Amino acid sequence: MLVTKLTQRLVLRSRAFSVIHALQHDNPLGLPRRPGPVPQIPRRGGPIQKRPIPHVKKVLAVASGKGGVGKSTIAVNLAFSLAMLKPQLLGRRVRVGVLDLDIFGPSVPTLMGLQHTDEPPLTSAGAILPIINHGLPTMSMGYLLPKSGPTAPREDAAVVWRGLMVQKAVQQLLFDVDWRDGGEGPGLDVLVVDMPPGTGDVQLTLGQLVVVDGAVIVSTPQDVALTDVRRGISMFRKVSVPIIGTILNQSYFVCSSCTTPHYLFGSPTAFHTVAKSLDVPVLGELPLVKGVSVGGDNGVPYVLTSSKEQAEDDSANGAAWRNIMQEMAGTVWQALEGE
Ligand SMILES: Nc1ncnc2c1ncn2[C@@H]1O[C@H](COP(=O)(O)OP(=O)(O)O)[C@@H](O)[C@H]1O
Ligand SMILES: [Mg+2]
Repeated sequence: MLVTKLTQRLVLRSRAFSVIHALQHDNPLGLPRRPGPVPQIPRRGGPIQKRPIPHVKKVLAVASGKGGVGKSTIAVNLAFSLAMLKPQLLGRRVRVGVLDLDIFGPSVPTLMGLQHTDEPPLTSAGAILPIINHGLPTMSMGYLLPKSGPTAPREDAAVVWRGLMVQKAVQQLLFDVDWRDGGEGPGLDVLVVDMPPGTGDVQLTLGQLVVVDGAVIVSTPQDVALTDVRRGISMFRKVSVPIIGTILNQSYFVCSSCTTPHYLFGSPTAFHTVAKSLDVPVLGELPLVKGVSVGGDNGVPYVLTSSKEQAEDDSANGAAWRNIMQEMAGTVWQALEGE
């Protein structure tokens, strides 16, 4: 019923993400031409033209200096935790979406259980419609890649773009997605953007073209990760993005037979010292939890699993993880609203 209604409203144009389209440097996603000005990366020294993302009130970037620290996992779980908030002033639940800007290593499709989904439909105006699972709309380069085989996830398909192509694809993902429910309706309160690791083109494109209302920086306790945290913070500051705080992930592990936290990757002291010296608050310290990883692989974000399901495997770690995530969502919402 819903599907029929949707297809009536939409013109399902073929957007074929083919080699030919990939060769179109100014339109890498092969979207139909749309009227209106195309945002431009400012020339060196030129004025910065930051624009809001259509139908999105607040933009939250989840970033890290280094890959593999749990950024995507946190972005998706934080998005669901934000969506579970019911702020008094709003009088309803927060409307949240996730945009995966990791062009070369999109993991949101897997984390959302959407790696085998069909290509997203387009609205009659030529905008891409997000793909929804567990009630949360998402967009990712992963949905736009050709399926590499009947069973292989499409993330296996390599994107071999550089420079300008990447910039253009990022611009299309930022400005050509219609975040309203089915291309109508009220849009999002918060768009959580899962950034690629590091401080490259994608980060600059986002920082220069979009009004980003806040960033959280994820790290693990190792020294190598900490060095990159400094770089990440300095980059966001350069493009005037307020840093809401840092998150220390995989900080400790509590085994099922004791209550002592084991700091497997080193003491969190160095992390706290770095955060303090940079004048950035620590939003939370998350433990290592087996279920977090299993949930990610199975496409069910950990904050959506019930405490009964978790209890067997994850003991106190699991409850701590969920509680800290929920608390952080409250802090992030307040920071975004207080802007
Ligand atoms: N707190 C945690 N406990 C257990 N596993 C975790 C935790 N955080 C991340 N992981 C796992 O670490 C791996 C890398 O996480 P991911 O979110 O893909 O990192 P990134 O986006 O920074 O590259 C994934 O397998 C994920 O499930
Ligand atoms: Mg990632």
